[in-house]
Amino acid sequence: MSKALVIGNWKMNLDHVEAVHLTQQIAALLASRPADRVDVVLAPPFVDLRSVTSVLEAEHSVITAAAQHASDRDNGAFTGEVSVSMLKRLGVSSVIVGHSERRTLYHMDDALVASTVRAVVRGGLDAVLCIGENLATREAQEHDDFVRQQLLSALEGVQESNERVTVAYEPIWAIGTGQTATTEQIRDMMSTIRTQLSALRFSTSRVLYGGSVNAENAATIVTDGGVDGFLVGGASLKTDSFAAIIGACNDCYAERR
Ligand code: PGA
Repeated sequence: MSKALVIGNWKMNLDHVEAVHLTQQIAALLASRPADRVDVVLAPPFVDLRSVTSVLEAEHSVITAAAQHASDRDNGAFTGEVSVSMLKRLGVSSVIVGHSERRTLYHMDDALVASTVRAVVRGGLDAVLCIGENLATREAQEHDDFVRQQLLSALEGVQESNERVTVAYEPIWAIGTGQTATTEQIRDMMSTIRTQLSALRFSTSRVLYGGSVNAENAATIVTDGGVDGFLVGGASLKTDSFAAIIGACNDCYAERR
């Protein structure tokens, strides 16, 4: 892939005032130290999205905004939900779909993940599809089959070669634990995922890694793990660590040319 992709998933952190500060800092840093080989995306909570997109527009920033979730329905009596078209009107360009926290804490099953991916691409936004096994599945050596099945189910009914689909491999045991997958584990999984994506005719999709990525390990993972970028949680909440991760991807992609 010609450019890496780094997404900061803020989860349920930072109110809209704090979000404005962090967005301004990251936008200023990228304006002074451009990372031409990286697409940078911020995924704040719903209530921060308009503030974040306003800052990005005002600064003419290359950074874009993502939502952390969206409804699979267009509109109607779905209390608490937010539709893809509402997000689009706010200037949001992508949506994270099926993050493991939504799957495990809010019972988002494979069918709902699939219909949400379809709703996002139908609505003209990019879908960042999250997949990844839990520790028991990894210990049982069933992670490859599990992830292949997640991809098969999530991409059902999505038009082939759809460039709007990005995949984020996030082993659940590595999320927020400080226990990153080894570069060998990541490399093996990238190959499993890419093989399945080409079998499903989605070979243009970028494949990211997420799970305890930080300023110290990003360079090694992007170089040796063969990833197209990162979905970053905790380390995206601080300008310095997020900038270091973006910088590591930019340097790695510069060397690949
Ligand atoms: P983490 O989260 O970087 O804090 O492990 C990653 C994610 O859940 O997207």
